Amino acid sequence: MSAEDLAQGARLPGANSPRGSLAHPGQGARAAAPALLIVGHGTRDADGLAEFHALASLVREAAGSLPVETGFIELAEPLVDEAVDRLIARGPRDVVSVPLVLLAAGHLKNDGPASLERARVRHPGVTFRLGRDLGIDPAVLAVAEDRIRSVLPPDHDPATTGVVLVGRGSSDPDACGDLYKVARLLADGRGLGMVEPAFAGVAQPDVPAALERLRRLGATTVVVAPLLLFTGVLVGRLHATAAAWAEDHADLDVRAAPHLGPDRRLAKLVLERYREVLQGDVRMNCDLCTYRVRLPGYEDKVGLPISLTPHGDAPAGGRRRARRPTRAPRPAPAALAMPARERALHPSTPTAAADPAAPPAVALRRLSYAYPDGTAVLTNVDLTIASGERVAILGPNGAGKTTLALQLNGMLDGATGDVEIGGTRLGPSTRRDIRRRVGLVFQDPDDQLFLPTVRADVAFGPANLGLSGDALRARVDEALARVAIAELADRPPHLLSAGERRRAALAGVLAMEPDVLVLDEPSSSLDPAARRELADVLVSLSLTTLLVTHDLPYALELCPRAIVLDQGQVVADGPTREVLADEGFMRAHRLELPAGFNPLAA
Ligand SMILES: Nc1ncnc2c1ncn2[C@@H]1O[C@H](COP(=O)(O)OP(=O)(O)O)[C@@H](O)[C@H]1O
Ligand SMILES: [Mg+2]
Repeated sequence: MSAEDLAQGARLPGANSPRGSLAHPGQGARAAAPALLIVGHGTRDADGLAEFHALASLVREAAGSLPVETGFIELAEPLVDEAVDRLIARGPRDVVSVPLVLLAAGHLKNDGPASLERARVRHPGVTFRLGRDLGIDPAVLAVAEDRIRSVLPPDHDPATTGVVLVGRGSSDPDACGDLYKVARLLADGRGLGMVEPAFAGVAQPDVPAALERLRRLGATTVVVAPLLLFTGVLVGRLHATAAAWAEDHADLDVRAAPHLGPDRRLAKLVLERYREVLQGDVRMNCDLCTYRVRLPGYEDKVGLPISLTPHGDAPAGGRRRARRPTRAPRPAPAALAMPARERALHPSTPTAAADPAAPPAVALRRLSYAYPDGTAVLTNVDLTIASGERVAILGPNGAGKTTLALQLNGMLDGATGDVEIGGTRLGPSTRRDIRRRVGLVFQDPDDQLFLPTVRADVAFGPANLGLSGDALRARVDEALARVAIAELADRPPHLLSAGERRRAALAGVLAMEPDVLVLDEPSSSLDPAARRELADVLVSLSLTTLLVTHDLPYALELCPRAIVLDQGQVVADGPTREVLADEGFMRAHRLELPAGFNPLAA
């Protein structure tokens, strides 16, 4: 790998930083990659020092033509200041310093920046930047695991195996806390058994205390594993401590694991820390994110979209507790008292919030469905919608949105799992009632309107329920009024505009007085005015509403909450704005916002 390759993709030094004198001939103005200074703590132990240099050699090997120097904070030569001067003498005008330290504690936090500050004074015009410690990283975990496994009997039983993971020990609580995190991560999913942290000095618990704890927890095989990069007095002392404890506990099989030592994976990590500085890579704890990094026991999470739900960690489960409103709850507005847009932004408080004991308007539990030809469309869909909520169901073509809508009112037979509407489970005896309670407005109004007049169409459902005469007329008039098409009652549906047909179909559903309204792509084929009028109608209804849509701005305007379906699974469930603003997630699920549309500004 060349120095330039290494820095590839990195933000090269800006115009105001001095260009390196290392630019290769023929490479024009391309800046040389900054030089690398590896800083160790230093040790008086010759073997430990040799290991440090062996690891530094591995870094050099991997770094290709990049100039690399090594220096120490104390106890070994050259000290950092001298190493800096040597490096600058070789020509670089830009230096990245990476501490070859596992977990940063006081020394690094003070002496690292201090040495660079001194270097800046001695070498004005040279840029010095400090990288971070190796830290809690999958590479470190992998090397530690190998060292532990190298002494474990191959057939060990994790239930009776324990590891004492020994850190150097520090007065810095953050560094001590990091060891606990490493212990926890090593204990998780790797089959190593129980992992107890301990410190070689300064901090508690010490090694005998951790050994005793493991004994009491039932461990019969125990590994004492130093989480140290290089050998030295500490490693020897730890092994002696383990041996002494083993003498007093003959019933336990106590083994000493080697420390980490020089390893190519650690060398690569040093270069990763170097690269990170150049890329200004400010990350949270993404290094150990199960969604990005293959961690033992969590392999199936890699690449899954990250759930946006505020509760729980299931990326695709979407099981929620009662939702908190995403905005300050307001009393349910009297219909049409507030301008429609205002109402859209402040939906009425879900009634479930007022009565936590009330059953959810919609609850799906592990709902799976395949069409009779075997096409599996829904897989373990879990979702709960409180009464009064307006929720968008988003997803690319073929995600299963329409199929889900059809499931909600029992239009399709043969699903597994549960559909519950207002606490009533969908089944043969409740299907008829649930069809009435869940009003489904089809994507194509022509699938719904088939009688000669709008009035006849809207009356069809309630007449089937047994309504007649004045009661039927009143029901129809009310439904038409709610969608603001009273004047169209006697017109033939096929002569109406797309927007009017959509509202006529909605009136037919409202005439059944449903508890839940499900609309499949209601804005499709509507012009902007019709789309707006429909939005106003939907807001004025104050019904629990599921809006299946491709129209993302529409979803944002009407629905505080969005559920994203992809390949028949819930892949996100959260505030619509947050869902739409997650660009990577949206791209991953083939959801595209209109050009120039910014959900955060809308
Ligand atoms: N009647 C059917 N028989 C077999 N497969 C179907 C049927 N209807 C839809 N599908 C398939 O189910 C999947 C989901 O379809 P659908 O629910 O319409 O998705 P969406 O509404 O999200 O675009 C698609 O792959 C589609 O081809
Ligand atoms: Mg569809």
